[in-house]
Amino acid sequence: MKHERSNFSNRIGFVLAAAGSAVGLGNIWRFPYLAAKYGGGIFLLVYLILAVTLGFALMITEISLGRKTGLSCIGAYSALSKKFSFLGWLASLVPIIITPYYCVIGGWVIKYFFEFLRGHAALTTEDTFFSNFIGVTEGGLLGNPLFWFVIYVVLTTIVVLFGVEKGIEKASRVMMPLLVVLSLVVAIFSLTIPGSIEGLKYYLLPDFKDFSTTTVLGAMGQLFYSMSLAMGIMITYGSYMKKEDNLEKSVAQIEIFDTAIAFIAGLMIIPAVFAFSGGADINAGPGLMFVTLPKVFGAMTGGTIIGVVFFLLVLFAALTSSISLMETVVSIFMDRLQWNRRVATLVVAVGILILGVPSCLGYGPLASVTVVGMAFLDFFDFISNSILMPIVAFLTCILVGHVVGTRVVSDEVESSGSFKRKKLFEVMVRWIAPICLVAILLGEILKVLGVISI
Ligand code: PFF
Repeated sequence: MKHERSNFSNRIGFVLAAAGSAVGLGNIWRFPYLAAKYGGGIFLLVYLILAVTLGFALMITEISLGRKTGLSCIGAYSALSKKFSFLGWLASLVPIIITPYYCVIGGWVIKYFFEFLRGHAALTTEDTFFSNFIGVTEGGLLGNPLFWFVIYVVLTTIVVLFGVEKGIEKASRVMMPLLVVLSLVVAIFSLTIPGSIEGLKYYLLPDFKDFSTTTVLGAMGQLFYSMSLAMGIMITYGSYMKKEDNLEKSVAQIEIFDTAIAFIAGLMIIPAVFAFSGGADINAGPGLMFVTLPKVFGAMTGGTIIGVVFFLLVLFAALTSSISLMETVVSIFMDRLQWNRRVATLVVAVGILILGVPSCLGYGPLASVTVVGMAFLDFFDFISNSILMPIVAFLTCILVGHVVGTRVVSDEVESSGSFKRKKLFEVMVRWIAPICLVAILLGEILKVLGVISI
């Protein structure tokens, strides 16, 4: 099937669209809990170093490959090398695994939005509220995470089905800056709560005792996730980019935007964890945002209103991301099986609903079922972020660094401007990134197999 390739009207339009996909639950929900869990300051430091080296090299590679070939992931890899066409498929598997559980978390956000909206904010500050909710012990339809998950999937599906992207783009221009402003307000408030300074120190000052391979692995998985890397998305976005737009500058801006929002989200949540629980909740994992933020809102004057607006904005950021995730999966079905949009979207929606159920119930009725010791949601998160993405990233580095040569990327970048970090890019893609990726992947596999404990 032949698709018209439309272009973004200008460079800023491109940067905003790519940032809209990149900024999502990864920044606001996932980054803070990982930073909290993996040692605070040391995680932040490792993340920042990885962002300007590995993240930069991979993002510029993916966007260049997309722009050069004018194709999305599967086509782009096979256009570069027939032998590597499987890589396009492997990368496409990642959104297929992520989308269902992303929608589960999206459902949690709607639930909180709803509770704040109907004036039950105080209830959500109770310590057991979140665990009761995901444990499905609250009872009733509104207390069931499955219900909220289905609502979230329906919302995402409607947009993908009717393609209201134009409206979404317009709304993004207002809501994303609002999200930044509101997050800053909440972050500043968090820092005024007595006891939060300990948390701020934990978040900002690296303690090298906490450094371990898991820190690097966690930070790297988060980097891929947050910047929508190693899953073909940025290749697709690149294919829509104009030939004359400056690539290096655009990449830098997407990265800064994405990292800034994650950083602010950490500021909002981590100091508050110390203020409210003396740091006891630091390992709360995926629930951290849902446990801590309501308490922050509870302590703020006008906190209920701020909570309503905040969860609405988070919901919006999540939707812009899940729409692009689902759209990717739908376009794979449309391209490969020649299905029309409606059939492809409905089939994918049903698939998401089926695959999401174990993640949704994995902390409740299915809590006794674990995969390699993990609840379903954690397992899907692990398999995509810690295993598949490093493999895709590694093979992409080999393809670009040693098979077709780094010039495919650097020529493309230089065709529309200078490439200041070219040397860094070359060394990263050819040597440092592949070595780190293999080491980290091996470490992780050995850990799961119980051969080593790190
Ligand atoms: N980068 C998004 C986030 O941080 O929430 C997650 C994501 C969205 C990944 C869309 C991939 C994607 F296509």
